[in-house]
Amino acid sequence: MIWPATPDNIAKAAKRLREGELVGVPTETVYGLAARSADAEAVAKIYETKGRPRFNPLIVHVATMEQAMRLVDLDPCGNRLFSMFWPGPLTVVLPLKQDAPIADLVTAGLPTLAVRMPAHPVARQLLEALGEPFVAPSANPSGRLSPTLAAHVEEAFGGTIPVLDGGPCEAGLESTIISLTHSRPTLLRPGVITAQEIEAVLGHPLLPPGDQIEAPGMMASHYAPNAAVRLNAHDRREDEVLLGFGGTPNADLDLSPAGELKEAAVNLFAYLRQLDSLGKQIAIAPIPEEGLGEAINDRLRRAAAPRPSHE
Ligand code: TXA
Ligand code: MG
Repeated sequence: MIWPATPDNIAKAAKRLREGELVGVPTETVYGLAARSADAEAVAKIYETKGRPRFNPLIVHVATMEQAMRLVDLDPCGNRLFSMFWPGPLTVVLPLKQDAPIADLVTAGLPTLAVRMPAHPVARQLLEALGEPFVAPSANPSGRLSPTLAAHVEEAFGGTIPVLDGGPCEAGLESTIISLTHSRPTLLRPGVITAQEIEAVLGHPLLPPGDQIEAPGMMASHYAPNAAVRLNAHDRREDEVLLGFGGTPNADLDLSPAGELKEAAVNLFAYLRQLDSLGKQIAIAPIPEEGLGEAINDRLRRAAAPRPSHE
């Protein structure tokens, strides 16, 4: 069920959320699978629908700073990040307020909460119509490629969940996740906003993620197509398709013929899906490890990692 994002359908989607059901929603990063954050049963449905491990907490999406302040303890560092990057593709992990009105499953028992204020107009209209925050993980079966079109969500969940259609996602990669619950701000997941942009605002370097898996989106295998993936490929072997970058010769698809990282991020998940449907191993040309390339390479390394948990 793909629903055009008309005011009527947005109102219908908000009603569904209020009734404890799930809705697919476009954001500027990837499509999310939304449920009302305070509704334990609805949140449980997200875990069931995605086949998501229960220890993997969810991001709460808010429309306003007031909503965020009811959920987490803000500090000056958080305030600086919010005033620079919200609304937008930045998620911040902060201490959870004790009386925060969210289901326990949202945090998977952690004393912290990930919050984000999306910029996409349809996500914002849905938040407004609902009048309270929703949780929204990426709308894909756990561990697989994230959706950047309403049709990807439709495909993944067999048409059982309505998806508001907001067109193709502008960024195509998930939000950057920063934790402010350590001695210093820590990068948990590279994303659309680069580490350098955040460091410029904070005035000092971010700590790299620790060894412990704090954001299970950081699990070695994630964002995986069905096909095996070979990275840093300079040619196409027999039984492979080749995903190029910057005009790679003989590429079946090129993430950005002009070598632009932003364009490559937008195309990444959709192109991996297209090549995956051909049933061959996917060889991928090298992507520079700078700026947005850090997040793109993060996703590609996880797509290429051995996959103990899927099969
Ligand atoms: O761009 C995005 O962030 C998208 C759109 C839909 O907003 N959402 C998204 O959600 O990527 P998801 O569930 O696919 O990834 C959320 C990540 C997970 O890796 C999770 O482990 C981490 O956020 N996370 C959530 N709460 C956390 C917490 N309290 N501490 C550390 N990591 C947390
Ligand atoms: Mg995800």
